[in-house]
Amino acid sequence: MNYANAKLQEEKVFKDPVHRYVHVRDQAIWDLVGTREFQRLRRIRQLGTTYLVFHGAEHSRFNHSLGVYEIVRRIIDDVFKGRPEWDEGERLLVLCAALLHDLGHGPFSHAFENVFETDHEQFTREILLGDTEVNEVLRRVAVDFPEKVAQVIEKTYPNELVVSLISSQIDADRMDYLQRDAYYTGVSYGHFDMERIMRVMRPRANGVVIKESGMHAVEDYIMSRYQMYLQIYFHPVSRSAEVVLNNILKRVKQLRAEGYWFKYDPQHFLPFFEGMVTLEDYLALDESIMLTYFQFWMKEDDAILSDLSRRFVNRKLFQYVNFDPHERREDFEELQRLFTEVGLDPNYYLVHDSTSDLPYDFYKPGHESTKRPIFLLMSDGQLCELSEKSLIVESIAGRIKVDHKIYFPEELLSDSSISQSLITKVKKLLL
Ligand code: NI
Repeated sequence: MNYANAKLQEEKVFKDPVHRYVHVRDQAIWDLVGTREFQRLRRIRQLGTTYLVFHGAEHSRFNHSLGVYEIVRRIIDDVFKGRPEWDEGERLLVLCAALLHDLGHGPFSHAFENVFETDHEQFTREILLGDTEVNEVLRRVAVDFPEKVAQVIEKTYPNELVVSLISSQIDADRMDYLQRDAYYTGVSYGHFDMERIMRVMRPRANGVVIKESGMHAVEDYIMSRYQMYLQIYFHPVSRSAEVVLNNILKRVKQLRAEGYWFKYDPQHFLPFFEGMVTLEDYLALDESIMLTYFQFWMKEDDAILSDLSRRFVNRKLFQYVNFDPHERREDFEELQRLFTEVGLDPNYYLVHDSTSDLPYDFYKPGHESTKRPIFLLMSDGQLCELSEKSLIVESIAGRIKVDHKIYFPEELLSDSSISQSLITKVKKLLL
């Protein structure tokens, strides 16, 4: 039997708190899970800094990846199998793409990519196609198989149905992370009836559609996305942690550029400073390594680096207020001057952050061609876009509310060594 169809002698299961069990029957899937590149995902949290707010949110990209795989497996094996629109020959491809879709994520993705200008999607491709254990397994299926998996993840694969299972407005990726993030944060929103949604999914040439009778289950899913974005993903305190983290990395990069002599050589970061990052360098970084460096950096002589590292490790985060520096430019400039006057470098201690650069796309019909909207399959066989039928979805579709905040160290406002008149001025502008 060839490797593409090879089954395990006995089915393997992973216990999973969200889907109860994750079932593996294919040899290739089992082998991929065992690769070092996939195991690395255990050391990267799914929600970055969110664990500093919701202490349960310690789950990793490893859990999530297995979950996405399991959802796709159930859809194709339980619902699509035997339907004429579904090509069983795509089965292993879509399962591999589901399992590996987040493979290139680095530690604390947002902040890291922002400061070091790396791109996790590019690294996913490199891991799939480079000299890696994952590539070795995929090549056993077929020589062109690694490239196909990359195309599905990058949404360029010609079979749109296959792509839509992993990236669309209602895909296995989102269905897994919404439920998983809700479970691990412990919040009550985020839950929806996925079993029901899976039952009413139908394969069509250009993507998955939903039988009209499943509309209310889909409405619930959209609402859960909306709630999760506002309550979890944009939580102002995890954004504060993100700001501190971002500034630690920014400071390290700046110090390095100035020729600062580090007491603890930032070995793992050197290739990133030089912009000469090999795949090995990238894979060597994970969140445990980063947190270890933060502990070292607490003891550095540079006051900003040691302070910010201490803040992150001990969770002494920044305070925030609603403030849009674009609208209040003069006030912001005045604040920058006052911060400098009290000895705080505004580049690190007065930080504007807005949610606009985050994926606030809880539902935008037809917004991006790559994120195809949800189509309902009516009883007469016609397709109808969801927000045309659902009042609930129509009312929240495409509404983008950009939220601007500035983050700063709160102790500043009660520091007795700073003159009262300065503090009063700062307070007047901030509060
Ligand atoms: Ni994902």
